[in-house]
Amino acid sequence: MDCIILAIESSCDETSASVLHNGKILSNVVASQEVHHQYGGVVPELASRAHQQNIVPVVSESLKNANINKKQLNAVAFTRGPGLLGALLVGTSFAKSFALALNIPLIEVNHMEAHVLAHFIDEPKPTFPFLCLTVSGGHTQIVLVKSALDMEVIGETQDDAVGEAFDKTAKLMGLPYPGGPLVDKYAKEGNPLAYTFPATEMPGLNYSFSGIKTAFMYFLRDQLKANPRFVEENTDDICASIQHTLVKMLLQKVKKAVSETGIRQVAIAGGVSANSGLRQALAEEAKKRNWEVFIPRFEYCTDNAAMIAMAAYFKYEAGRFTHQMVSPLARMPI
Ligand code: KG4
Ligand code: ZN
Repeated sequence: MDCIILAIESSCDETSASVLHNGKILSNVVASQEVHHQYGGVVPELASRAHQQNIVPVVSESLKNANINKKQLNAVAFTRGPGLLGALLVGTSFAKSFALALNIPLIEVNHMEAHVLAHFIDEPKPTFPFLCLTVSGGHTQIVLVKSALDMEVIGETQDDAVGEAFDKTAKLMGLPYPGGPLVDKYAKEGNPLAYTFPATEMPGLNYSFSGIKTAFMYFLRDQLKANPRFVEENTDDICASIQHTLVKMLLQKVKKAVSETGIRQVAIAGGVSANSGLRQALAEEAKKRNWEVFIPRFEYCTDNAAMIAMAAYFKYEAGRFTHQMVSPLARMPI
């Protein structure tokens, strides 16, 4: 039977809508909110207001690009959490109204599960079970993916997410928000071994990134005392060194997860998986250790509704629908 799903993502600062037809993405429209840049981070109230302004045009464009009339839809999916509550509320309310008006089922999606399931949009697709390192501005997790509907977090950060570590160190250097992509850019020209930072050791498969941020703050303070132009003169080397440390920390636990589970299919997901240092290091490890590595297309790494549509498709096939009384969740474990 034909299945056409409209999916909506509004968990943070991207308003996105996507249309999927029998597992294939027909459209994926993403409106990024520029309003936060001047504040050096996402302002929740402004995110919520921008979602309200963007949601109707984004959904209309998504349906138009897919050449689908709303009457053809079989289900409406939305991100229930985790994320900013006020932002999630916009997508949730919109999806509920749409489903009610069209009298079609409603599907709730966990944003972190959707990042993992973004690997099923394009070929090559992993087979179950596989490991997924989900790295974003809000999360750092190693997920054991047993099936599309059965995942287990086997390691995660106990404090900051790795994306936050990228963004906060960039901010300390005076780089604009979000700093992650800029650190990546400058790191390409720098020496990754120019400076060393203490990587925090954590038990098991867990991470901690708050220590390195503090260590970096004191490092800059001391260097700037000796040379007020330290950052301008050494931007490339500083970025390369901090990126090298963060990537090394990420991979150390992935290696451990592979040896503990015996699973050699390793996927990465989330905004930080766009990082070229991480991609390169992962590819090198894969070659050395005979892993099979999966990296989604860039547009499916950062927040998007196509991954929500894909996750919803698995739920649709399993008949897992939700009800009109559903409300969003700021915290929503996998
Ligand atoms: O998944 P995402 O788009 O949104 C969240 O759910 O958080 O991830 C955004 C994060 C930000 O911290 C951003 O700085 C980081 O991903 N990021 C990068 C790169 N591109 C995006 N970090 C390092 N290198 C990149 N190339
Ligand atoms: Zn995300």
